[in-house]
Amino acid sequence: MPKVLIATVKPFAKAAVEQIKSVFDNAGYEYRFLEKYEGEGELLTAVKDVDAMIIRSDKVTPAVIDAAQNLKIVVRAGAGYDNVNLEAAAAKGITVMNTPGQNSNAVAELVLGMMVFQARNHFNGTSGTELKGKKIGIHAYGNVGKNVARIAKGFGMSVAAFDPFVPKEAMEADGVQVFDKVEEMYADCDYVSLHIPANQHTIKSINHALLSNMKDHAVLINTARKEVIDEEDIVKVFEEKPGFQYLSDVAPDNKAVIAEKFEGRFFFTPKKMGAQTAEANINAGKAAANQIIGFIEKGDATFKVN
Ligand code: 3PG
Repeated sequence: MPKVLIATVKPFAKAAVEQIKSVFDNAGYEYRFLEKYEGEGELLTAVKDVDAMIIRSDKVTPAVIDAAQNLKIVVRAGAGYDNVNLEAAAAKGITVMNTPGQNSNAVAELVLGMMVFQARNHFNGTSGTELKGKKIGIHAYGNVGKNVARIAKGFGMSVAAFDPFVPKEAMEADGVQVFDKVEEMYADCDYVSLHIPANQHTIKSINHALLSNMKDHAVLINTARKEVIDEEDIVKVFEEKPGFQYLSDVAPDNKAVIAEKFEGRFFFTPKKMGAQTAEANINAGKAAANQIIGFIEKGDATFKVN
């Protein structure tokens, strides 16, 4: 009977846990949930004898891979897999997958939610602004970007996108204005929303050279990864553009500097919560469980990323 570990420092919603259990019960698999664990030690012990693992933003380091004697597959219930050491997994023949698209609506709703919150001055009772008639630029038009475009249009915004990996026609078919040069999109929009993955090409790529193209009152929204931002540069941009605002799903490392100098011009979630909805947890958690079963029973490697 295959054994599965569901290791989540940030637990899935209760309803998702129940549904994941029922997928594995129906398949006759053994499973164990390791939630809210502190430090890698507990994970190293728990992973020892399992065949498969489901994680969220939990870090799968070479030490975790090393400790896992029987591990064949890791599924990241979510989109970004920068938390998994793909090389270490591949070296041991372990398949790594993600569950693309399953939590993207939740992230997109948070983008627009943070935008409204900021535009209405954090609901402090003073007069704010509206999203209708403003322009949003979507930096990377994947599953989340596409959902942001759909919802932004509902608000009456005009929508632009930059993504060299997506065919221009596909974006245009969604009624999105396509930019070939990223700097031009940053210069033309009131809001820019980031949806790039964190990898060696993108880390610290959102820097002064790029952000200095933005309008003076522009708002940058980051629900991707904090690592894609050059945090020192963003302070420079705050200083140079007195209307510039920054909204991020998780605080940057230099939050204290920003909080001290730029009151009212930022909002940071207390912990990464883009995918923190029951629906997203159910979709991604169930998909992960089914992908594990498909892989173990039939060798189905759809969504393999390593
Ligand atoms: C993702 O990459 O899918 C999101 O960042 C969600 O991450 P989480 O599962 O840790 O909330």
